Amino acid sequence: MKIVVTAGPTREHLDPVRFLSNPSTGKMGFAIASEAARRGHKVILVSGPTTLPTPKGVKRVDIISAREMLSAVKLAKGELLIGVAAVADWRPKTCAKVKMKKRTMPETIKLVRNPDILKSVKGVKKIGFAAETGNAIKEAARKCREKGLEFVVANDITKRGAGFGTDTNKVAFVFPDGRVKAFPLMTKQKVAEKILDEITRI
Ligand code: CTP
Repeated sequence: MKIVVTAGPTREHLDPVRFLSNPSTGKMGFAIASEAARRGHKVILVSGPTTLPTPKGVKRVDIISAREMLSAVKLAKGELLIGVAAVADWRPKTCAKVKMKKRTMPETIKLVRNPDILKSVKGVKKIGFAAETGNAIKEAARKCREKGLEFVVANDITKRGAGFGTDTNKVAFVFPDGRVKAFPLMTKQKVAEKILDEITRI
């Protein structure tokens, strides 16, 4: 199967040296891309800025912003899209061509909404992630329905060993019909294996 995986953060620039972003390191998405390639899938990894090496057998496309990520995902034309990236939901309305000076920098920054990548891509099977700080299962079920996903990998990033930058994760798969498969704390590698196992059932 041709699988497209999004990973890492996006950066939304305000000027050439300043941006809005988040602490995603890309570890979870890279682990999934690596495991999918190991199982013989054709994998395109669309990644925001990270320091991780490209997994073996994976075609990597580097992007910076959410809008670039959306274009790259559309171009890749996968049969399955796994959205692992921590996409910035907002971007500054304008991006200055040259570095802003502190004496002329405005006190407020006007933001506009970024496209939702998972929601915008239609006609393919999709799996999403939900990083939550409470109500993880309920929020994941909502995202599953709203974005038309096969299932959502929910994680409560307030739990020890789960979330940004760690090598482990504690997740639950949440299906549109409300079914939940919860897992104990596992390495991101093991989580990737469980996701790839589940894919054989959709
Ligand atoms: N996602 C996306 N495009 C966006 C935002 C999120 O494709 N602009 C994807 C993420 O890759 C993830 C899923 O949607 O697979 C959920 O992301 P999350 O940030 O948890 O949720 P949001 O959709 O941003 O919703 P909310 O702000 O209500 O938590």
